Amino acid sequence: MRILTLLLLALAPSLASAQSAMPEFLQAEFAERRVRFAAGAGDGVILVLGGREPEKDYIQFFQSPSLYYLTGFREPNAALVMVKRGSEVTSRMYVQPRDPAREAWTGARLGTEGVTRISGMPARHESELIPALDSLLRPAPRLMMVTDLGEVARPAWLKPVEVLFLDTLRGRLPGLTVTDLTPRLQQMRAVKSPTEQALIRQAAAITVLAHREAMQAIEPGMNEFELQALIEYTFRRNGADRPGFASIVGSGPNSTTLHYIINDRYIEAGETVVIDIGALYKGYSADVTRTVPSNGTFSTEQRAVYQVVRGAQAAAERQVRVGGSAKAMRDSSDATLARGLAQLGLIESPNATYQCGAQGRSCLQSQLFTIHGLSHGIGLEVHDPEEWYFSGTFANGSAFTIEPGIYVRANLLTDVIPDTEANRAFRTRLATLLPRYRNIGVRIEDDYIVTDAGVEWISQAPREIDEIEALMRVQFTGPARRDPALVETYRRDVP
Ligand code: GLY
Ligand code: MN
Ligand code: MN
Repeated sequence: MRILTLLLLALAPSLASAQSAMPEFLQAEFAERRVRFAAGAGDGVILVLGGREPEKDYIQFFQSPSLYYLTGFREPNAALVMVKRGSEVTSRMYVQPRDPAREAWTGARLGTEGVTRISGMPARHESELIPALDSLLRPAPRLMMVTDLGEVARPAWLKPVEVLFLDTLRGRLPGLTVTDLTPRLQQMRAVKSPTEQALIRQAAAITVLAHREAMQAIEPGMNEFELQALIEYTFRRNGADRPGFASIVGSGPNSTTLHYIINDRYIEAGETVVIDIGALYKGYSADVTRTVPSNGTFSTEQRAVYQVVRGAQAAAERQVRVGGSAKAMRDSSDATLARGLAQLGLIESPNATYQCGAQGRSCLQSQLFTIHGLSHGIGLEVHDPEEWYFSGTFANGSAFTIEPGIYVRANLLTDVIPDTEANRAFRTRLATLLPRYRNIGVRIEDDYIVTDAGVEWISQAPREIDEIEALMRVQFTGPARRDPALVETYRRDVP
């Protein structure tokens, strides 16, 4: 019972989570998703838990992507229970009740009647969830569940809320079996509807605006956090909910750390600055990276690396079409990066290897510099499911990034490439070149939507060298006023 209390009730009145609770005009789409989702499941009880109320510090509440995708509901501590018997599917919501005393802190809740009025689904008080599941499952204790646990590495003792909830349920229903329907929902989420595409386009447009501001503002002597502040100000001022992930502003050595998010270094002249950011708009995230020279002009070495990365992105882009293979996209980028690294002399040849561990194991030299994957889906999460994860090919409604990078980390010779006989020539080559190339990190990341109409590049911030240098020459006179065209109502975002 204590666990249940933790899950379902806030421990103290909270300022969090006053937001518009349920977009009325999208209800037909949410209902259609529920029907389609249940159609692929077996008979039985399906549970989707929403996000819990933040317990501390009045941090903002965000709904779990799964519950949002199936209902659009944005209040905390909610759940969706669907019961499927043959072709008949019933859906019921469990939500916080109306409570004027608590609403003085949290803002108005929809309550059960409000939820039913907007969604058409019957709704009950959250405290009835466990008893309802108990009685639904008692005849056959088999539950189907969607979770938002992801692939986070966490210690065994740190149990996420879904696991605590199941512990409670198992206490009442010994022998309960649970089938994970998360992959099924992820497969649905992997193809974006026209409505979702419109929201992603808007997230990308706001992100482009922030990149343009940052390019104009940046100069040696600034701190990374000043750029972060300008970027996130631009997001919010243009109607974004928040950043879709921690903004990355990495200068000099930090430009070679992939997920650098501390953002508190003073930027020096002659450095590359990797800016990897994404506005979250009505729940949908963009993810766009630009790399700029801190003093406005790329050095010879920075320019050379940049051109290899940009060439890899262009090669990858050419492979994208409905039905096109994601492997072909990756292969074309990998080959371009490896060829370019060989031309720069940073590796011995495109397929050259080095001894990377004990027992003479060999690894590609190119991977010392390229490190991460090329692409991922975008949507309700910055790393959202994408159709090619399942089928290997792009679909009508794919939304994803293409983001090659080259990173010359300063510790290659000291920490990474073992000092062995087999590596001697490679290490000697790098010892000569590293003084010129070290701490150059370049990532170029763009967002795309693919439909039967073609491939749409939706993050059109300056990305060719001359375009970036031209914008950086423009005198920065402070943040732009908000762009009225970008601050639209939710209603106007959808087709
Ligand atoms: N910003 C995280 C990524 O590019 O995947
Ligand atoms: Mn990305
Ligand atoms: Mn990114």
